[in-house]
Amino acid sequence: MRPIVIAGNWKMNNDIAQTAELINALKAAKKTSSAAVIVCPPFTSLQAASLLLAGSGIALGAQDVSLHDSGAYTGEVSLAMLKSAGCSYVIVGHSERRQYHGETDAVINQKAKKVLAGGLIPIVCIGETLQEREQGVTATVLTTQTTGVLAGIPAADVEKLIVAYEPVWAIGTGKTATKEQAEEAHRLIRSVIAKLYSSGTAEKVVIQYGGSVKPENAKELLTQKNIDGALVGGACLKADSFLGIINAA
Ligand code: PGA
Repeated sequence: MRPIVIAGNWKMNNDIAQTAELINALKAAKKTSSAAVIVCPPFTSLQAASLLLAGSGIALGAQDVSLHDSGAYTGEVSLAMLKSAGCSYVIVGHSERRQYHGETDAVINQKAKKVLAGGLIPIVCIGETLQEREQGVTATVLTTQTTGVLAGIPAADVEKLIVAYEPVWAIGTGKTATKEQAEEAHRLIRSVIAKLYSSGTAEKVVIQYGGSVKPENAKELLTQKNIDGALVGGACLKADSFLGIINAA
């Protein structure tokens, strides 16, 4: 049985005061849930969030990591820094990093390896654009991305990481993939992992869906056989809606 994992990607939202407000609201209202819950604030809020989350059962993640360990890389944040700030997860290869920062499958693969080598868990994002879906090449794109981001990662590590399937056309658009579209993509990703490794490994990988997940659509998505959680953007910025998704899980 795979766990259900709900992660909130705050993106570039919330200063320190807003971080405290949101985390306190989450802690106050969070019921015990069998789902694992992760929040991913911006770098500047990580340490504050880590202190506030102590004992809450909610884990901390970062939104990106540098490929470098230290040195003259202005603006970059290393894995050791994330670890010391209290992170146990790191999102790598979000479509916004691919789109605005030119990150490729090869870079994302290196970042995933870096995170695993440091003992943290990468949430590795893949997903097709609207144009690719309309051209009918979704399966090819997902196969190429899955193969590229996992290249050279041993099975034992693949079993630990999280894959987030996020169709780019569903991110921040209010347009969610239907449960059938999402399940079909997840099944395909799992079958690619099975071919690359084994069905035993593929069965262990947590595959989250992301793209306009809300309390209203969380349950139908999360009850699909191959959907093991959600990576939530907009709806994680309000305690009520994020908790609605956690409770649906
Ligand atoms: P969204 O973002 O929930 O606002 O669509 C999801 C994501 O980018 O991870």
